[in-house]
Amino acid sequence: MHCGKVSLDALARRHGTPLYVYSADQIVERLGLFQKAFASREHLVCYAVKANSALAILKLLADRGAGFDIVSGGELARVMAAAPEAVGRVVFSGAGKTPEEIDHALILGILEFNVESQAELELLGKRAARLKKKARFALRVNPDIFAETHPYISTGLREHKFGVDIRAARAIYKAAAGNRWLEAHSVSVHIGSQIRSADPFGAAMERVAKLARQLQRAGIQLTALDAGGGLGIDYHMGSFDAAAKVAEYAAAIEKSLAGFEGRLMIEPGRFIVAQAGALVTRVLQVKRNGKKTFVITDAGMNDLIRPALYQAHHEIVPVRPREGKSRIVDVVGPICESGDFFAHDRKLAPIEPGDLIAILDAGAYGMAQSSNYNTRLRPAEVLVEGAKARLIRRRETMADLLGPEIS
Ligand code: LLP
Repeated sequence: MHCGKVSLDALARRHGTPLYVYSADQIVERLGLFQKAFASREHLVCYAVKANSALAILKLLADRGAGFDIVSGGELARVMAAAPEAVGRVVFSGAGKTPEEIDHALILGILEFNVESQAELELLGKRAARLKKKARFALRVNPDIFAETHPYISTGLREHKFGVDIRAARAIYKAAAGNRWLEAHSVSVHIGSQIRSADPFGAAMERVAKLARQLQRAGIQLTALDAGGGLGIDYHMGSFDAAAKVAEYAAAIEKSLAGFEGRLMIEPGRFIVAQAGALVTRVLQVKRNGKKTFVITDAGMNDLIRPALYQAHHEIVPVRPREGKSRIVDVVGPICESGDFFAHDRKLAPIEPGDLIAILDAGAYGMAQSSNYNTRLRPAEVLVEGAKARLIRRRETMADLLGPEIS
């Protein structure tokens, strides 16, 4: 099995396992799909840094014109470390920003704050006045749209903690209009993640576009609209036409925006990086308990938590398939919890201890959600561009881990 032209076997021997491997070519291609799909209007693809915040990936995307959607001062620091020239293309989302984070972002001059409540808008106004820096803002509205996805990552209903009720938005924009330190720049939404159908995006943007028209009649002219992220991928093996998916998504959004002349911003994360990444892990043991066969890997839920947290499906394939009959197995990690699994009752080709397997579609919310649980060192990361592979994060050492502690 290869990533681009580079064999995963060779990478695992060189860098050890568990190892995250990403295809730069696919990441660039996916960004290009969004840029092309919205080419008919002014647009900005603000990659959601939370999906995979590796500096090398941020740089790769910034060099091709991407902006960034961040949710913390830490993510802003990453953008500044990887691509400071892109700071004017940063939108700052998130339901709770500290005054220090706001100040820092104001001083650096980010593009827009996505504000999630009236109180936060007041705070932003105060900080901006204090620093004498005008703050461009979008109110993140909650359009009350249901989108089919896992309940932990659905965000667009009134019962969720995100955004302000779209019915209350107009009054908040009007109240802010008198503040010379606040500029109403946009309206933003984000209805959830891993949403497979384009329809909810269209429905949400229809409500946003209606709000923009109402604001215009009230004398508030917005520069942009921000449709958020959330477009889903197919985690199951099979043919997945990414270009067709993006085209369908763009068509749904464009239809809702008919008549809006301004700039469109979007915040895709998963769609850009998920399928470009695999977690390569070595099999430590193959063991039978009663009727069950367990394939125990050197990667654990601390390295990739999606199966444990969301019952997420990831395809798993041997790096060098062996001849013979497939078996039904559980693929599990070495951590002391039954939640530490990658797959239950999965049909896999024969696997022996020492073999390498690849857990696919792990480029988004894999390394980004990893931890040091069980005092495990987090994996190294490699970025493959054509025939070249580059280590973009070395494996952690025990010194990295113990450094901050005081005994
Ligand atoms: N914009 C905002 C405001 C968000 O909250 C998110 C993701 C995105 C954009 C990017 O969404 P995407 O295009 O990646 O779906 N850890 C979960 C996903 C959490 C998503 C949180 N917000 C997972 O592994 O499935």
